[in-house]
Amino acid sequence: MMTMRAPLSDLPVMLQDVRMASGKVTILDSVSLTISPGAPTVLIGPNGSGKTTLLRVLMGLLTPTSGRVTWGGRENAPPERRAIVFQRPVMLRRSAEANVRYALGRDDPARIAELLALVGLSGLERRSARRLSGGEQQRLALARALARDPELLLLDEPAASLDPAATKAIEDTVRAVAARGVKVMMSTHDLGQAKRLAGDVVLLHRGRVIETGAASGFFANPRTDAARKFIAGELLV
Ligand SMILES: Nc1ncnc2c1ncn2[C@@H]1O[C@H](COP(=O)(O)OP(=O)(O)OP(=O)(O)O)[C@@H](O)[C@H]1O
Ligand SMILES: [Mg+2]
Repeated sequence: MMTMRAPLSDLPVMLQDVRMASGKVTILDSVSLTISPGAPTVLIGPNGSGKTTLLRVLMGLLTPTSGRVTWGGRENAPPERRAIVFQRPVMLRRSAEANVRYALGRDDPARIAELLALVGLSGLERRSARRLSGGEQQRLALARALARDPELLLLDEPAASLDPAATKAIEDTVRAVAARGVKVMMSTHDLGQAKRLAGDVVLLHRGRVIETGAASGFFANPRTDAARKFIAGELLV
């Protein structure tokens, strides 16, 4: 008899008491989090607080020293339905459209054009990807990640060092894909951006989750002193 199975999902991602250490250095400590479908989760915290490391753990690129990570209840979920964009993405030495075609795994000109338009790169299809500006390369990296049709999209400071127009293009893309049901988890140093995009917020400090919850509550009524300071723009050291 044939059995019908629901398609496997990577969501929710659950971290239970995750610790990451390198030698004697603790990078993540006692991190327990659930990443559920919905509006973007924004990860904030000072330099070195563990944001990039946490995103790599969520992608499955790093295995925690201890603790448990599950994707849709599975411990070994291949990264087919998730994608990550690093802060300094590496471009193939080919045109912008060839970079997207490669990520897509097939030649589908309409889909490639749609993805480039989504990130605001229409007109630059034939430009050598390595000759694009830093901001354009970040948007191309986002198009490549979206080509893989992820249900979980991890972005590490996607708008770092971009000007307002390029930042807006990134934020518009995040909103557009979130509206289509893609779960976005992104780190940022920009509290304004966190307020504009976040459904919920995770504040990391020295590898620990200091506070997490709905963005509205987090910004209006932070529960911890550290969150209050961070929101007020004071230095968390
Ligand atoms: N492989 C590693 N070995 C040793 N230490 C590491 C390793 N990877 C990261 N670290 C350290 O762990 C801490 C957290 O690094 P991580 O890159 O996750 O922070 P971050 O919050 O992304 O910082 P930033 O805001 O500067 O990007 C840093 O002190 C970093 O030096
Ligand atoms: Mg980082």
